Amino acid sequence: MSCFQHTFYTMQVFFTELLPLQFDSYQFLIIHPSLLTSFIFCSFFLILFHFMQWWQQHRHKHKRLPPGSMGWSYLGETLKLYTENPNSFFSNRQKWYGDIFKTHILGCPCVMISSPKAARTVLVTQAHLFKPTYPPSKEKLIGQEAIFFQQGAYHSMLKKLVQASFLPSTIRNSVSEVEQIVLKLLPTWANRTINTLQEMKKYAFEVAAISAFGETNELEMEEIRELYSCLEKGYNSYPLHLPGTSYWKAMKARKLLNETIKMLIYRRKESRKHGGGLLGVLMRARSHNLYQLSDSQIADNLIGVLFAAHDTTASVLTWVLKFLHDNANILEAVMREHKGIKSKLATENRGLSWDDTRHMPFTNRVIQETLRSASILSFTFREAVRDVELEGYTIPKGWKVLPLFRTIHHSPHFFPQPHKFDPSRFEVAPRPNTYMPFGNGVHSCPGSELAKLEILVLLHHLTISYRWQVVGNEDGIQYGPFPVPKHGLPLKITLREKIFT
Ligand code: HEM
Repeated sequence: MSCFQHTFYTMQVFFTELLPLQFDSYQFLIIHPSLLTSFIFCSFFLILFHFMQWWQQHRHKHKRLPPGSMGWSYLGETLKLYTENPNSFFSNRQKWYGDIFKTHILGCPCVMISSPKAARTVLVTQAHLFKPTYPPSKEKLIGQEAIFFQQGAYHSMLKKLVQASFLPSTIRNSVSEVEQIVLKLLPTWANRTINTLQEMKKYAFEVAAISAFGETNELEMEEIRELYSCLEKGYNSYPLHLPGTSYWKAMKARKLLNETIKMLIYRRKESRKHGGGLLGVLMRARSHNLYQLSDSQIADNLIGVLFAAHDTTASVLTWVLKFLHDNANILEAVMREHKGIKSKLATENRGLSWDDTRHMPFTNRVIQETLRSASILSFTFREAVRDVELEGYTIPKGWKVLPLFRTIHHSPHFFPQPHKFDPSRFEVAPRPNTYMPFGNGVHSCPGSELAKLEILVLLHHLTISYRWQVVGNEDGIQYGPFPVPKHGLPLKITLREKIFT
């Protein structure tokens, strides 16, 4: 763990967690010694950062660094990022400096990239020179041996196994399970106002859990659900590891989750049944001596997949409903497509199949356009492992490199009228490396097909049987962990009087 990772996270915490607290509740700061200590600690580091930033700029003065401003000490660019809309922060700098520019955010020198060619270099062709980086406290919660944080041989081995669990040939058998989850969930929404994000999280969790663990008894699943929920709260909180804090509770839940998964592994070993899901794949690989994986490596990767699959898919589902609500003609076209499929299913007296989901071209374009327009993962983080030459500039060792997916997805050069929600733009394939909602290269998302399947199945049943109306007229975005419509998009759901058959 590098010094920059420490400083990056400490200051991120300072700005996002501590600073608002100090202004809001000065008394609280006085009586809460842990906060006071943190405040003194952060002040000390502010001075240190000022010096470090000066040093960083001077030690690289004979290198050709990308253009851009490092801001005034630590505060300069960081405050701007936090006070401006993050998207205008990125696009303004792109206008001023070009597709590659440097900045200094949250205690780290960064290079931001919005050229598809340079993003490809970082993520694909020279990926070995740019390692994935995460704040250490988050890494500990997910599990240090999870796939995201790895490079090289261990990463390739894990990727093969994880990918095998989410290939179309594997998940095609899960359609009816996913459909059953939807059919159980939707009636609970009827005639009430839901917090869309929260409901989508429930759905995404159930699907992710089946993919991770396969068939598991309800009691074990309930335990996993509760522990995971505690883990998630801590993941999104201030990482103060003191008794009683959310982070501390999350670390405890993480340990228990490890034990629960180890128990599952033990039981499957005893019964000589590896079972389904990613757990089954990992256990089989181990028992056939294909790969040496310890129980905790297996646990880290199962928990990692739950993390990767949960909030991401739930946020995209929330946006799909928002965009369909705001674009009545597009919703009408989606409904027409699903009415056709529903008639066929009724005639043949069966549920959805994998092949049905392959015949939803318009809905697929709506999903593609949602992924572009919402770009819930605005960027990803890498760190240069040594000085790297990129498009005529030097990126010094240890600097963060951020390929800006959202800026590329919103560039009028690649997506004309980028602010318009227009699924028809995907009637023609986007130019290579301009469309990366699931990333690119070695770390690209292995769960993309599962995520799309979840969205298709939910949209099928929702559009056929229900209407939805946004409650309130407050447009806006809430950030954290991903951008979603404000208040999680409250929706009033009503059952259609006449359900299509
Ligand atoms: C719409 C929903 C989703 C979106 C937008 C999404 C997006 C992404 C992106 C952009 C990355 C690459 C991150 C990087 O390069 O740093 C990624 C990685 C990953 N995703 Fe997804 N994802 C989604 C759903 C899922 C699902 C359903 C699963 C699992 C079933 C999953 C599992 C993973 C894993 C394991 C990785 C890490 C791969 C690696 O490091 O090699 N994701 N995802």
